[in-house]
Amino acid sequence: MNADSSFSIASSWRDLPAAQQPDYPDLEALRAVTSELEGYPPLVFAGEADQLRARLASVARGEAFLLQGGDCAEAFDQVSADQIRAKLKTLLQMSAVLTYAAAVPVVKVGRIAGQYSKPRSKPTETRDGVSLPSYRGDSVNGPEFTAEARIPDPERLRRMYHASAATLNLVRGFTTGGYADLRQVHAWNQDFVRTSASGQRYEALAREIDNALNFMKACGADPAEFHSVEFYASHEALLLDYEAALTRVDSRSGRLYDVSGHMVWIGERTRQLDGAHIAFAASISNPVGVKIGPTTTPEEALALIDRLDPEREAGRLTFITRMGADRIRDLLPPLVERVTASGAQVAWVCDPMHGNTFEAASGHKTRRFDDVLDEVKGFFEVHKGLGTHPGGIHVELTGDDVTECVGGGNEILVDDLHQRYETACDPRLNRSQSLDLAFLVAEMYRG
Ligand code: PEP
Ligand code: CO
Repeated sequence: MNADSSFSIASSWRDLPAAQQPDYPDLEALRAVTSELEGYPPLVFAGEADQLRARLASVARGEAFLLQGGDCAEAFDQVSADQIRAKLKTLLQMSAVLTYAAAVPVVKVGRIAGQYSKPRSKPTETRDGVSLPSYRGDSVNGPEFTAEARIPDPERLRRMYHASAATLNLVRGFTTGGYADLRQVHAWNQDFVRTSASGQRYEALAREIDNALNFMKACGADPAEFHSVEFYASHEALLLDYEAALTRVDSRSGRLYDVSGHMVWIGERTRQLDGAHIAFAASISNPVGVKIGPTTTPEEALALIDRLDPEREAGRLTFITRMGADRIRDLLPPLVERVTASGAQVAWVCDPMHGNTFEAASGHKTRRFDDVLDEVKGFFEVHKGLGTHPGGIHVELTGDDVTECVGGGNEILVDDLHQRYETACDPRLNRSQSLDLAFLVAEMYRG
């Protein structure tokens, strides 16, 4: 496809207000990069996005559970085999816990291979009386607090593409090349088992899984599903110049797909009904998510469905709610009731992170593990009360032993936060906290 046709194809959003876009000083440089990106190979295939849509349809129908997780913001200097493997391992372990302990198929989607752009609540950051443009993710500018680093640089879009490609390549290798084989269920835990209570709890469950696998094998059953794993990539579709440059016509169907990731979501700050982000999301056929925060009215939720899922196709639209632990029990029921009454089949997923952020006395942005847990609990209670399906969780996590969220089994205290606080943006659950969460969610699911 040439640059002109893709420009016109994926351009329905261009005349609309687009929130949270970088202020590029050199628009010609931007155009040069995006037109090159238009010629780059797709990162994912339309057929894969369709397959994820079918899996999410099972979630919407109540037959499967979505586990979506990864960094708040990926960073270019963290694209390493060790870090990607650790993240994947954590997600695979959580998935094994959920699949075995809750006996539900788990759809696994990373916040990975494209999660480089951040919406910010404030356009500038002030330190010691000096104000500079906010850091908006490695795809836009640099985190260093200097005027130069904070200038949006379109070359970073190209780096995002290459970082995403390298990450996805490794993820594909791990998930299909034997590493994700269920018989590796112990290996994912090897470096962890002796050092943490959640690691030991996991080890006991892994032994049970092993026994079940041996039993099945002795019976002559060894299905292909045990030897590799279906894993999908997702990120927030924030930078529309990048997403549009990676939007292509699918030769099979003639429809548009954003080939930068299997699933994309629209964030809480960019989901305006008359804005560019929703228009862009409406133009593509990937499964899409929308973050739904505390101000969302049932009317807005219904209007989002009309815009994004006019055909009422299960799997197309996922609502990712992020209300805060103290409000979810009040705010979620009217939304779920009205949406359900409308006949729409969305997947409901709980983001227990973004409504529970606060600043500790030390100045670190953090979250309490107990609040995260309580929001998930509230989410399950509401759905149970209404007879609807709690479709999944959307979490910020890392495979490394960071100290960014407080609490959890290996209790991290506010005074510990400085020890390993490494996030490029929001605080993430570490591996032990992630596993703890998976065990607790499995219990709630079995409820
Ligand atoms: C995020 O997912 O990192 C994020 C910014 O979330 P939200 O749009 O819900 O605030
Ligand atoms: Co975040």
